[in-house]
Amino acid sequence: MAACAAPATTPPQAVPNPRAEAVAAFATVQKVLQHPRCQNCHIPGEAPLQFDAGLPHMMAVVRGQDGMGVPGLPCSTCHDVTNPPASFGPHAPPGAPTWHLPPPDRKMVFINLSPAELCATVKDREKNGGKDFDALIKHVDEDKLVLWGWNPGGDRAPVSVPHDEFVAAFKRWAAAGGPCPGDQLALGQ
Ligand code: HEC
Ligand code: HEC
Repeated sequence: MAACAAPATTPPQAVPNPRAEAVAAFATVQKVLQHPRCQNCHIPGEAPLQFDAGLPHMMAVVRGQDGMGVPGLPCSTCHDVTNPPASFGPHAPPGAPTWHLPPPDRKMVFINLSPAELCATVKDREKNGGKDFDALIKHVDEDKLVLWGWNPGGDRAPVSVPHDEFVAAFKRWAAAGGPCPGDQLALGQ
């Protein structure tokens, strides 16, 4: 008879689950990393992309050996360390310090990855330039190319998630050990 009186089990959604919350936070991170202002440089190919439509960069601009462009046409020929004044018009080259692409041997691709692939790539130290979670947080918080995404110049749309929300979501994800969508552990098992 005691078995009949057993209390009903608590519904799973009522149990706090930090890993599931961290996976939810990664959805915010993904929205930023795959925004055109970010993914236009985080590409598998050789030409950086332009505009929200991600069209290949004009004038056959390419990555080069170190991400800085080819010797005859480095990124810095056109991209300065700040955005040009508005009087230069909406299509002047935007600018931020060390404007360049990741190098060819670690391209740090964000574009066209599934949430699980993106999550695994971002925290893979062999792919991300040896960054642990602290270094990644510092990068998304302070890096000048990252910050440019919220001040892109011309009539480019800034990243849609506010920067402080992005950093807070990144920290929540990292604090739980960076669980990825689809991980068994992320489901709390
Ligand atoms: C002009 C090109 C450019 C733009 C725009 C850009 N990045 Fe990057 N990003 C780079 C380069 C180059 C590196 C490599 C830096 C290094 O390790 O020296 C990098 C590295 C990173 C890394 C660390 C590597 C990794 O795979 O985790 C993250 C995270 C990152 N960027 C996020 C962003 C976000 C978020 C935005 C948009 C808000 C953005 N980036 C916009 C060029 C760019
Ligand atoms: C010959 C000049 C020139 C060179 C060299 C050049 N760019 Fe550009 N770039 C531009 C101009 C101009 C724009 C703005 C285009 C527009 O808005 O119509 C631009 C836009 C961009 C954008 C688009 C930002 C966005 O989200 O729409 C990225 C990314 C970019 N360049 C990366 C690079 C990288 C990386 C290099 C070096 C490998 C480079 N560019 C070299 C002139 C140049």
